[in-house]
Amino acid sequence: MKRVLLTGGAGYIGSHTAVALLKNGYEVVIYDNLINSSILVIDRIKKITGKNLTFYKADVLDTDFLKEVLIKEKIDTVIHFAALKSVSESLEKPLEYYKNNLGGTLSLLEAMRASKVKKIIFSSSATVYGDPKKTPITEDFPKGICTNPYGWSKSFIEQILVDINGSDKEFKVVLLRYFNPIGADKSGEIGEDPRGIPNNLMPYICQVALGKLPYLHVYGDDYDTKDGTGIRDYIHVVDLAYGHVLAVEKIDELKSLEIINLATGRGYSVLEVVAAFEKASGKKIPYKIEARRPGDVDKSFADASYAKKVLGWQAKYGIDQMCEDTWRWQLKNPNGYESEDK
Ligand code: NAD
Ligand code: WQD
Repeated sequence: MKRVLLTGGAGYIGSHTAVALLKNGYEVVIYDNLINSSILVIDRIKKITGKNLTFYKADVLDTDFLKEVLIKEKIDTVIHFAALKSVSESLEKPLEYYKNNLGGTLSLLEAMRASKVKKIIFSSSATVYGDPKKTPITEDFPKGICTNPYGWSKSFIEQILVDINGSDKEFKVVLLRYFNPIGADKSGEIGEDPRGIPNNLMPYICQVALGKLPYLHVYGDDYDTKDGTGIRDYIHVVDLAYGHVLAVEKIDELKSLEIINLATGRGYSVLEVVAAFEKASGKKIPYKIEARRPGDVDKSFADASYAKKVLGWQAKYGIDQMCEDTWRWQLKNPNGYESEDK
């Protein structure tokens, strides 16, 4: 059965993808330096699946070691999750973000070329669309102006991969553009575990629900939306993970370069998410309307029909399930993955 290397596989999306791959009979190797995740995740993945997996605590910037692992583990396909992903932090530390995200990708590609591993699935982001001229967003929309170094790193890496594919059509590239992943495995064993004050909406709501933060700051209620708050395409991380299983399964029959939105095609406003979370958790989420957050767009949601066409994939879970599963994880792990290395 295919052996799949997950760079950054101990992270939020990577760990859920590892579970999905193992459940579908694939062999998984996780390669992660744990800069934004915990070693505890590895045992949680084994506990959920009853399957074993191989883990390397290592940096994608270590090209020689990466090449050694790709050869030794007889890797067929790489899913490249490894990145730093905080929008606000990227504005403070652009050099670290470009070195880690761009440099890490270039290192990975060198190691893949040297070990003749020529299939890569890349964690891209809806952020590469910038401020879309309309919604829903399809993959043929032009890439836009990003508002932060993190977003630009994703956009630049997409171009690098397009160019690699252009120079060698045998180098198969799948760019998966995630919209807004939330939720957690139904077991409550793995989930999103942000460090410090969360940037993103759902983990922030969770901290309020746990009583760790006093209220939610709602960034703007004067957007051109039904209730004035920002609309996003939230996708259950378990749905997102299964999209990767299908990409691995079908990569040999796909075009040598594929760009695919992974989304539900349904947008929810901030206040709709708050209401859904309150219903799922039974917790009141106090909030205050504040000024817009620089760089935010009014609406971002996808036309997800191309994923259905080429992968046979579509999201199964709605916002209620996303909130229920998030809350189960958070209740079971109020301090995330508590371990000495946090
Ligand atoms: P995450 O931070 O939970 O996971 C990223 C993992 O990569 C972490 O385990 C971290 O330790 C590891 N890592 C980072 N730099 C590394 C390096 N140099 N060497 C080895 N490992 C390294 O983030 P996530 O939410 O799981 O996101 C996974 C991928 O999906 C990222 O590339 C992110 O940019 C992308 N993405 C995330 C979202 C989202 O909202 N979560 C949306 C779109 C795209
Ligand atoms: C969602 C909505 C906010 C927090 C970001 C990155 C993107 C990707 C996903 C990595 C918006 C509002 C949020 C809060 C709020 N990450 N909000 N109060 O900005 O759509 O996308 O995460 O790839 O690249 O840009 O997600 O969760 O930050 O915001 O009102 O405390 O919630 O204004 O409308 P976003 P988000």
